[in-house]
Amino acid sequence: MIKRKRPVNQSTRQLITKLNPRSPISEQFRTIRTNLQFASIDEKLETILVTSPGPSEGKSSIIANLAIVFAQQGKRVLLIDADMRKPTVHYTFKVDNRRGLSSVLVGEDALEEALQQSDITNLDLLSSGPIPPNPSELLGSKKMRQLIEKAKNIYDLVIFDSPPVLAVTDAQILANDVDGTLLVVRSKQTDQDAALKAKDHLESVNAKLLGVVLNDVESKKDQYYYYGQ
Ligand SMILES: Nc1ncnc2c1ncn2[C@@H]1O[C@H](COP(=O)(O)OP(=O)(O)OP(=O)(O)O)[C@@H](O)[C@H]1O
Ligand SMILES: [Mg+2]
Repeated sequence: MIKRKRPVNQSTRQLITKLNPRSPISEQFRTIRTNLQFASIDEKLETILVTSPGPSEGKSSIIANLAIVFAQQGKRVLLIDADMRKPTVHYTFKVDNRRGLSSVLVGEDALEEALQQSDITNLDLLSSGPIPPNPSELLGSKKMRQLIEKAKNIYDLVIFDSPPVLAVTDAQILANDVDGTLLVVRSKQTDQDAALKAKDHLESVNAKLLGVVLNDVESKKDQYYYYGQ
């Protein structure tokens, strides 16, 4: 459960786990990290997809912070921007987006050429690359599965940002290729029917649903603890 702290500055994306790793919100991200590790004890969890039923529910913000807390734990992490419709990883981490997932999938660049270091130790990025006309086709290609295998050989954990599951098929396609999927829903925004529908969509492709993150919950008690630090 991610609690709302203060209005977001739209001009830049602040990463709380980077700016203030000791805050209660960062602690909540570490709790999600632990829960994910427990959610898959018997099977390997090397690839995780983050999606949500609809737009703007917090997928990209949550995945960026999750990538950071996994990297802070000492894991070699790769964050892939597989939202080739509304990509944000390059913007969030202020890296170049001329090369990325799309350019690797169409064979313009080798994966190694498109990988970029972030300013966080242990965290590398594969931004979306130029927006392609056919994201679903690219994500469903044999080349994408080869890319995932290659990335798994280099990194301990590979996590994927994606478009909303009810809007386009991209997340379903990816859910089938990863070890587990995390669904983000947003307080006062996601309706119950949409959440259930998203779960059905994911289950219909045999996705392993690892859990649901409830984003943007207000809590006076936690604000007290936050400011009381
Ligand atoms: N817990 C939160 N508190 C306040 N603002 C938030 C919170 N989570 C997300 N936001 C803001 O809401 C907006 C949408 O978030 P984000 O881009 O992470 O969602 P998304 O699900 O990736 O959206 P899209 O469907 O466009 O990819 C952003 O401006 C983000 O800063
Ligand atoms: Mg997003």
